[in-house]
Amino acid sequence: MSKVFVLNGVNLGTLGTRRPEIYGTMTLDDIERLVEKEFPALDLEFRQTDFEGEMVGFIREAAGSDGLVINAGAWTHYSYALHDALESLDVPKVEVHLSNVNMREEWRRASVISPAVDAVIAGMGAHGYVAAVGYVLERLGRST
Ligand code: DQA
Repeated sequence: MSKVFVLNGVNLGTLGTRRPEIYGTMTLDDIERLVEKEFPALDLEFRQTDFEGEMVGFIREAAGSDGLVINAGAWTHYSYALHDALESLDVPKVEVHLSNVNMREEWRRASVISPAVDAVIAGMGAHGYVAAVGYVLERLGRST
């Protein structure tokens, strides 16, 4: 059974009530259940943290997995620590954003983690996580 880490960073634990006009009304728990439902045969490891160092630890842990999906929240735009941790990780990696960061403030258009991942998905809402896990599986050449 393939194991895929789905990591969410700073402020993503408040989904559901945080700017619903931008991020939607689903909670992070709702999103995780949606992904689980789409991939019932996968071993999915869901984690969320508001602490950057803890996120670095999660990324290192994913070295023992088959793939990683990450929404790093605002860290996306400035965390070289997350960039370096992702760069060292040798599994298929996808960066996800619920919102289309390119349509928003100028500073959200820059991602310092994008050069360290294989693919970026933005603006698909919760479905972006499903698409990201699907991509990881495709890279692995497996359907589950
Ligand atoms: C986000 C976009 C980031 O700019 C923002 O800081 C977030 C969420 C998204 O999912 O659209 O926290 O990553």
